[in-house]
Amino acid sequence: MRVIGLETSCDETGVAVYDSDRGLLAHDLYSQVALHEDYGGVVPELASRDHVRKTLPLIRQVMSEAGLQREDIDGVAYTAGPGLIGALLVGVALGRALAWSLGVPAVAVHHMEGHLLAPMLEDDPPPFPFVALLVSGGHTQLVRVDGVGRYSLLGDTLDDAAGEAFDKTAKLLGLGYPGGPALARLAERGDAARFHFPRPMINRPGLDFSFSGLKTFTLTTLQTQGGDEQTHADIARAFEEAVAETLAIKCRRALAQTGLQRLVVAGGVSANRRLRGALQVMAEEQGAKVYYPRLEFCTDNGAMIAYAGYQRLHHGQTDPLAFNAWPRWSLTQPTPFEAEAP
Ligand code: KG4
Ligand code: ZN
Repeated sequence: MRVIGLETSCDETGVAVYDSDRGLLAHDLYSQVALHEDYGGVVPELASRDHVRKTLPLIRQVMSEAGLQREDIDGVAYTAGPGLIGALLVGVALGRALAWSLGVPAVAVHHMEGHLLAPMLEDDPPPFPFVALLVSGGHTQLVRVDGVGRYSLLGDTLDDAAGEAFDKTAKLLGLGYPGGPALARLAERGDAARFHFPRPMINRPGLDFSFSGLKTFTLTTLQTQGGDEQTHADIARAFEEAVAETLAIKCRRALAQTGLQRLVVAGGVSANRRLRGALQVMAEEQGAKVYYPRLEFCTDNGAMIAYAGYQRLHHGQTDPLAFNAWPRWSLTQPTPFEAEAP
C-alpha cells in the first residue's frame, strides 16, 4: 500500500510517500522560516497562504521523485490537528479532495501521533510498548504507547511547552526565530558553571512539567547580570542544562513507573544535543534504550504523516467525505469525527 502524507499544521509544508513494502519512497519539505523571520515568530495568515502556494507543487515534486503516477497512490493522509486552523485546513482540504479525485481512502492524522511514530521509519524501530517523550513547539508530553492508537497520557506541561520555552527564552536573549536551534548554538559558547537555573517540579511527585518559570528566571538573571554577549551565552547554557536535566529526570521516572525500558523521543526539541546527552546518561544508568527519528524527521515533516496515515488505513480506519481540522485535539482521543457524530 502506498500512502501520500501532507503536513501543513504550522510553518513547514511537508509531503512524502510511504510504501508498506519498500518504505519511504520520497519526501520533501518546504520551510517558511524566511517568510516569518522578520516578524520574530509564525504569522498564521502568512503561513496559510504559503501552504496554499507550496503544497501542490511539492506534491508534484515528491510524486516525480518517487517515480509514481496518480494511480499508484492507494491512500491519502493529512495532519488535521493540532495546529494553526488556517494552515491545517489547506492540507486537509487538499488531501481530502485528492483522495476523492483518485477514488482512494483518506485519513486524518494527529500531528503528535506522527511525531511519536517517526522513529518507526528508521532501521532499528522501537518495538511496542514504549514510553514516548514528545517535545515540540506546542507540546511537552510523556505518553505510554502500547500500539498504534493505544496511547495513555502520563504527564503534560502545565504551562509552556519545551520548544515554546526555548523560543521565548531565545527572544529574551535577542535571538531570532526559530529560537530553539539559535539558543542551542549560543549555549555552545556558554560556561555551564556560571549560572544554575532551577529544575522545575522535580521535587513534586508525578510526571507533569512546568517551564514558564525558567523564562522568568532568565529575565531576572539578565536584569541583574547585565547583557554582554558572554553573559547571554552563559544564560543560554544554564537554561538548556535545566530543560535537558528536568526532562531526563521525568523520563527516568516514567520508565520506572511503567516498568518499560524503551524511550522514544520526538518533536522539534528532540534535535537538541544537550537533551540527547542527558537522556543517554539516564538511559545507561537505567539499562534503557533511547530511540530518535533521524534529525530531519525530529522537526515537522511529511514522512511521519504518511507513515502514521498508512498505519491508520492499514488498521481499517478511513474518514468520511466530510472534512474538518482540529486546532486542539487530544492525542488520547484519536478520531474526533466519532466525538462529533450526532
Ligand atoms: O515539532 P516541531 O518542528 O513543530 C511543532 O510541532 O511545534 O518543533 C518546533 C520546536 C520549536 O519550538 C523549535 O525552537 C524547537 O522545536 N527546536 C529546538 C531545536 N530544534 C528545534 N529546540 C532546541 N534545540 C534544538 N536543536
Ligand atoms: Zn511538530
